[in-house]
Amino acid sequence: MQFNVVNGREFGWPLVRFLKELPNDYIGTMSKVQARHGDLIHWRLFGGLLNFAFISDGAANRELFVRNTEALGKSPSQIQTFIYAAGQSVATAHGGDWRRKRKEANILFSRNVVEASCSGQVDVTRNYVAGLGAAPQDAITIARRMAALTSSRGILGRAISLGEADTQIAFSQAAADRFNAESAQLFARPNWMLAPWRRELTRRKSDVFPIVQSAIDDLRDTDVPNDGLMNHYVKGDFITSNDDEVLAILVGLLMGAQDNIAAATAWVLAFLAHHPHLQDEIRTEVADIGSEAQDFHNCALLKATISEVLRLRPPAPANQPRVLRKEVNIAGHRLPKGTYIFNSFYNMHHNPAVFTRPEIFAPTRFLDGTLERSTSFAPFGHGPRNCVAQGMAMQQLMAIVVGTLRGHEVITQQKTLPEIEQKPLLVPSPFKVVVRKRGL
Ligand code: HEM
Repeated sequence: MQFNVVNGREFGWPLVRFLKELPNDYIGTMSKVQARHGDLIHWRLFGGLLNFAFISDGAANRELFVRNTEALGKSPSQIQTFIYAAGQSVATAHGGDWRRKRKEANILFSRNVVEASCSGQVDVTRNYVAGLGAAPQDAITIARRMAALTSSRGILGRAISLGEADTQIAFSQAAADRFNAESAQLFARPNWMLAPWRRELTRRKSDVFPIVQSAIDDLRDTDVPNDGLMNHYVKGDFITSNDDEVLAILVGLLMGAQDNIAAATAWVLAFLAHHPHLQDEIRTEVADIGSEAQDFHNCALLKATISEVLRLRPPAPANQPRVLRKEVNIAGHRLPKGTYIFNSFYNMHHNPAVFTRPEIFAPTRFLDGTLERSTSFAPFGHGPRNCVAQGMAMQQLMAIVVGTLRGHEVITQQKTLPEIEQKPLLVPSPFKVVVRKRGL
């Protein structure tokens, strides 16, 4: 595999048009770049003064993100939104600080801590679908609420009300809107134009912080056991943080979880609705087991279905854009300091040499566990800055599917799967489902 070096105009896009198109249609633009120039591209502009690398090859991506983590700076304009919305946390740490923060987060997200809240996540999902009724409803709203309810259950260790879930959703939405505006501003929008997005996010922050603060206060004031991640910050002694930091970390995690899990859940609902037999097979697989995380360990089809959805529709279609802080050699090619790195999990996940007939939805391709370990499968990213919560995310999605399918079935009247929208995560275009009690 070799880098294809393209100079200036040979690339095919004028710079300004390209920089405007990329944030609006990341996967479309990256697919066009790949189709025109291959999987590894180094675009040199102005005689090498400005450099871009586009990487759609799994092995090269892993090499870059695993071996050269220290050389990869996160794009400051985008980190800005996270810092503003939640505060300093693992997602925003860089420089000398990220390894320490990440180490703490890795302990927090260890298997035994994460798994403790699994059955609670199944329960909140079941309770929610039980109240949905028999009329067709907007699947995106259902998915967002499922994400908010299960994330809060896992992180705060307690069930929240639908009103609190909607507050959390509005907060994450305001953060995503500001993130989009901020990204566009990198190329086009003057700073003062961001004011409306800033104001909205400030308003939403003032709604969501008190919910998390009150969960912390309650935990301190009572002896009721709490199986959420929060317990380990508030009552544990293996992580030292001050109160403001704990609050920032918890809000940051809720925000990090919300949009990704909501996008994944919406796609899961879409694929399940279009594959009723698959629903039956998963139901059979989970019929005689409990709701603890260990009970799901051997549910191969359940896990394979989620992996296949994440392959075809990775909620995060790429790593956050990175800038090289120093020169790196990758796949035998030198990329200079200052190179902007863009990669594409979406392209990797559609590589026909790895995934036979990549456009087809076929969960069974993941059954033997081989593809899961492929460098070309990376819905949670590569390397030590990948998704710190991927174990939790998989568990949460399994809990959502089990909590839904045990007593209900997902039905749609729509003939085709929804289209892909980028906001900036990949979400389905609006569609309706009925989550109907079985036997009706
Ligand atoms: C299906 C669900 C999810 C997907 C597809 C996903 C995807 C990702 C990806 C691709 C990254 C790496 C970004 C980069 O390197 O630029 C990431 C990072 C991160 N994710 Fe997730 N994520 C999901 C769920 C979650 C959940 C549930 C949480 C929290 C409970 C979470 C918290 C984080 C954090 C804190 C980081 C930053 C890690 C660091 O900077 O070291 N994610 N996620």
